[in-house]
Amino acid sequence: MSGKPPSQAEPSQAEPSQAEPSQAEPSQAEPPEFDISHAHSARVYNYWLGGKDNYAADRDAAEQAIAANPGIRTDVRANREFLARAVRYLASGCGIRQFLDIGTGLPTASNTHEVAQAVTPQARIVYVDNDPIVLAHARALLTSTPEGATGYIDADLRDTPAILQGARQMLDFSQPVALMLLIILHMIPDADDPHGIVARLMQALPSGSYLVLAHPASDIHAARMAEMTKRVNERMTGPKATMRDRAAVTRFFDGLDLLEPGVVQPQQWRPEPGQLTPLQVTAWCGVARKP
Ligand SMILES: C[S@@+](CC[C@H](N)C(=O)[O-])C[C@H]1O[C@@H](n2cnc3c(N)ncnc32)[C@H](O)[C@@H]1O
Repeated sequence: MSGKPPSQAEPSQAEPSQAEPSQAEPSQAEPPEFDISHAHSARVYNYWLGGKDNYAADRDAAEQAIAANPGIRTDVRANREFLARAVRYLASGCGIRQFLDIGTGLPTASNTHEVAQAVTPQARIVYVDNDPIVLAHARALLTSTPEGATGYIDADLRDTPAILQGARQMLDFSQPVALMLLIILHMIPDADDPHGIVARLMQALPSGSYLVLAHPASDIHAARMAEMTKRVNERMTGPKATMRDRAAVTRFFDGLDLLEPGVVQPQQWRPEPGQLTPLQVTAWCGVARKP
């Protein structure tokens, strides 16, 4: 987390209006500053995924977490595989061409735009994140097929007006949009009403839109997850992670039609035939359609 108040979301290139999506190179703006003395959720996650965009404090927190919950590396990979399957399903099976992916994370394999545009080259993807280090890497994300588009908004998830205002500049809100919230809502404490945030975002989208959501679980390997969360939270500045149980995660889908198989662990969501999957993954996920 950058610690920046939500209302101060800045565009990632010089001058444009607040939360306007950037399709240009972020390096045109001043280089962002980031605190590398504390762990950061995007970089810890990057380490678990085997990435190189992390620092000593991130690696320490990530290793402490692995010691508490040895399955975490497999779990984050299972989440990424869920992301790719869900995007592929929506692009190919449901005709979705617009994706609003909040909590982008550092670029890795099978980013949302790559998966969507491999199916539908015209797909338009808007990424949103509030972290300067993700912003610094956004240039790597801002690739697109010539037929489609990829943009980036520097905003906090809690600032839903800024996100919607920015997204409207690139996406057609009269057509369905897939809202993607994967492994981000745990960074929103209950006091900031995460369920209300999801409801407000979905309310702005038309019928036929989808919600794709994954959330770390408090009720799978509960003791390990509690210890892992404690260790990571002790090493991060800014908001702390809140793990949630299946019932709380299911409430994010209130008012929507959950697709089969409902709210399940990521490896259980429509696995591909023959795909080898871990038995337990410490997260809940689901995909739902707005009626
Ligand atoms: C663990 S990564 C998840 C990346 C990707 N969604 C995935 O599932 O692989 C979480 C991302 O959410 C971002 N994030 C955390 N809190 C946020 C907030 N309040 N507003 C916007 N982005 C946030 C972090 O900077 C990080 O990039």
